[in-house]
Amino acid sequence: MWTGFAIINGEIVSFAIINGERSQDKQPSTVSCIIYHFSSVRRTNLHNLHLLRTCRTSIQCTSNNTVMELGSIVDFLDNKVMLITGATGFLAKIFVEKILRVQPNVKKLYLLIRASDGKSALQRFNNEAVAKDLFKLLKEKHGTNLHNFLSQKVTPVDGDITCDDLGVQDSSLKAQMWREVDVVVNAAATTNFDESYDVALNLNTFGAKNVLNFAKKCVNIKLLLHVSTAYVSGEKPGLILETPYYLGESLNGTRGLNIDKERKIVEDKLKELESDNNASQQFIKIAMKELGMLRAQHYGWPNTYVFTKALGEMIIGHLKGDMPVVIVRPTIVTSTFKEPFPGWVEGIR
Ligand SMILES: NC(=O)c1ccc[n+]([C@@H]2O[C@H](COP(=O)([O-])OP(=O)(O)OC[C@H]3O[C@@H](n4cnc5c(N)ncnc54)[C@H](OP(=O)(O)O)[C@@H]3O)[C@@H](O)[C@H]2O)c1
Repeated sequence: MWTGFAIINGEIVSFAIINGERSQDKQPSTVSCIIYHFSSVRRTNLHNLHLLRTCRTSIQCTSNNTVMELGSIVDFLDNKVMLITGATGFLAKIFVEKILRVQPNVKKLYLLIRASDGKSALQRFNNEAVAKDLFKLLKEKHGTNLHNFLSQKVTPVDGDITCDDLGVQDSSLKAQMWREVDVVVNAAATTNFDESYDVALNLNTFGAKNVLNFAKKCVNIKLLLHVSTAYVSGEKPGLILETPYYLGESLNGTRGLNIDKERKIVEDKLKELESDNNASQQFIKIAMKELGMLRAQHYGWPNTYVFTKALGEMIIGHLKGDMPVVIVRPTIVTSTFKEPFPGWVEGIR
């Protein structure tokens, strides 16, 4: 049996793909990739036929497979170990709070956070997530025991998804993660529409690849959940099919899109700019922003952010092998809907 999950309107939903024989011990090799828009899902639980239909049309699986309802993601997370990137960011901190609240029996959450060491990563998690109002229900529930509970469940890890092995330096910690992690959630990204092309490509495209490679080293891996964006579909009006992107595909039909070539274009441009002694850092940054927008628009995407996110999806789809992958494409998430309470927002970071 293979299970997948996603957050929709702040709720976690789950589903299962069961082979024709309905064997419980089948490997997940029959599932390729599941992609859907948050916007296309109106309700938030598995009884939602719309979601199941969306899954049915989006799952590439063998002819004997069926999509079946699975009890609850809460059960699935019992005793599971997760690695979550981007936990100082808006979406992932909401996700972390929810898991700790609805499934306190989750075994462990490794949170990959940019910091100089583990202590600073913990400090960032406490200041940028736990200290927020978002965590007030957990504070009420656990009272003075909250930090004890968090120290049992949460392990902040200093790292960076633009690096090999996610920049985790401590080799025994890294080996422990590879042994323990069941689920990897990648919510780290740059969301600046006109980000410098080198930064966006490194993070949203090659960072996604690094996360996939790390997940592949986790011997117990059951799922990689990659957070993308609905705007990988560009600005086309009307009904948009929730299909995966294949390597080299462009939005406007322009041929020749090649991710390694894009990296070379970035390297060459940076070399050229840096060889000019008169070019200030500010000038280089503006030039790299312009380059990103030009490359995105050349292939039909409106901006660097969504272009590099689309490339990230492509690279994951291309390299995942038999890794079970779910790609979710939220539209614009503005605030919490119901939980932990309505209307929690975070200003521009
Ligand atoms: N919010 C939305 O409306 C929305 C809509 C559609 C899709 N999404 C997608 O959802 C995901 C999360 O978005 P968000 O709104 O939560 O973004 P966010 O608030 O900007 O958070 C981004 C997170 O990524 C981390 N990060 C950046 N560079 C990193 C690196 N090199 N290594 C490790 N972590 C790094 C940031 O860490 P630092 O704190 O160190 O910068 C931060 O924790 C993104 O993939 C985004 O594309 C968001």
